[in-house]
Amino acid sequence: MKFNKKDLKTLSNIIVSRRDVRGNNFINKKISNKKLDIILQSALNAPSVGYSQPWQFIIVNDEKRDLVYKHFKKSFDKSKKKFLDKPVYSSLKLEGIKESNINIAVYYKKSKNDILGQTYMKRTGEYSVVCAILNMWLTARVLNIGMGWVSILKPKKINKIFDMNKNEFKFIAYLCFGYTKEFYSEPELKKLKWNKKINLSDCLIS
Ligand SMILES: Cc1cc2nc3c(=O)[nH]c(=O)nc-3n(C[C@H](O)[C@H](O)[C@H](O)COP(=O)(O)O)c2cc1C
Repeated sequence: MKFNKKDLKTLSNIIVSRRDVRGNNFINKKISNKKLDIILQSALNAPSVGYSQPWQFIIVNDEKRDLVYKHFKKSFDKSKKKFLDKPVYSSLKLEGIKESNINIAVYYKKSKNDILGQTYMKRTGEYSVVCAILNMWLTARVLNIGMGWVSILKPKKINKIFDMNKNEFKFIAYLCFGYTKEFYSEPELKKLKWNKKINLSDCLIS
């Protein structure tokens, strides 16, 4: 299959208009099973070290969602002291656990066997799971579904909630999916002047 300029433009639009969506932007509308399946299938097409495909997903039920939310609130409050120089922190909405339609916990499944490519770089398995998450994020965006990544969580607590054994699995991400009021044209944290966008020249090490 050969792509053309129009495809490049479309891809670029999707990448640029992907946003992290939080509770202030989700609306109360159900994501169909068909669309959820499209999002999950996109994860399965991600690259993975040694084609290990080490991703595992938990579609979170309401009871567990409540437990995660309670834990998030505690972690968020505790994190406040790290950002005392930025009082805006307290007013930030940094999750959409309750407001989103679907929550997915993403895990890395450790392998007992040697994985091609992972001998010296042990975390490449985890990187592979992150590749899968980005596929989900972009696919959701094309379906006009927002995704928010929540990481103000203690993996130990999350493992307990989902009864996951840390010897077999590593918690990677907690994702919230839902339809949105809108997709901001730029990152919310940029709009709030939390950080500036950096230029390509700032990322190039000479
Ligand atoms: C690994 C990772 C963890 C993140 N954790 C959070 C989080 O806990 N809460 C939150 O509001 N956003 C979280 N984000 C979203 C970032 O804040 C967001 O990607 C960034 O501000 C740029 O905005 P954009 O994704 O809309 O372009 C996370 C993003 C990544 C990649």
